[in-house]
Amino acid sequence: MIKKCLFPVAGYGTRFLPATKSMPKEILPIVNKPLVQYGVEEAIEAGLVDIGMVTGRGKRSIEDHFDVNYELEHQISGSDKEEYLASIREVMDKAAFSFTRQVEMRGLGDAILNGKRLIGDEPFGVVLSDDLCLPEEDGEGVMAQMVKLFKQFRCSIVAIQEVPDEMIHKFGVIEGEQIKDGLFQVTGMVEKPALEDAPSNLAIIGRYILTPDIFDIIEETPPGKNGEVQITDALLTQAKNGCVLAYKFKGRRFDCGSVEGFVEATNHVYENIYKA
Ligand code: UTP
Repeated sequence: MIKKCLFPVAGYGTRFLPATKSMPKEILPIVNKPLVQYGVEEAIEAGLVDIGMVTGRGKRSIEDHFDVNYELEHQISGSDKEEYLASIREVMDKAAFSFTRQVEMRGLGDAILNGKRLIGDEPFGVVLSDDLCLPEEDGEGVMAQMVKLFKQFRCSIVAIQEVPDEMIHKFGVIEGEQIKDGLFQVTGMVEKPALEDAPSNLAIIGRYILTPDIFDIIEETPPGKNGEVQITDALLTQAKNGCVLAYKFKGRRFDCGSVEGFVEATNHVYENIYKA
């Protein structure tokens, strides 16, 4: 019923310059695996096996990562080094990939609109792979949790987490009525508010399930904060016309779009996943 997932990966990743001058931020590894592969694995676990990526200039290596590399694979074929490719082979076996380009960086809303042709008229997931989300021990990934909720409520859902006051201005923040433990019906949303204007401490993170009417809404949404087409503005319209839910997910998120979050994630994954 829901099997497509969109990855907007067109951003410049300026916070990682000079590393990201010729290399996409999504290919930076957390230990030995590119950030974007963690996101794709999370989508596959949720049953979202049609992966659409909105890329841009300089992002070719993302496409190459999800394709075969005959020379390399031939070279290590039959050796014990083959095991290093096991995780990416599994991803390629389970998922299909399509790519389109965002020509100008006009914001996340615009990037998602660029994915319209890949998605069509179906509900779909969105993963911002610079938010690395890891499940609780023996728990499900965030996308899998959200797909379950979607099956029950059939409306757009954003993942949220509580953030401290000094971080509020970096996020889209929701106002909502709690309808059950950890689940809110959204009544308002503000993109990157000053602390005094923030309606709550519940911040939207990089996981969404969107119903396809969002595309028409984005088309009608004028550029907002920073002159960019904000998905938050489109979602607010959707919330006013119908229903948008916000879900306090179970698990841990690392902001790998920032150097501090990236280092924290690296240490965590090395200690708890790689070495374990
Ligand atoms: P960010 O706000 O993290 O921007 O985008 P960025 O360009 O990637 O990184 P910095 O701030 O320059 O360091 C959040 C997500 O939205 C995508 C990015 O690729 C990232 O996954 N995005 C953003 C687009 O695909 N297109 C846009 O126009 C803007």
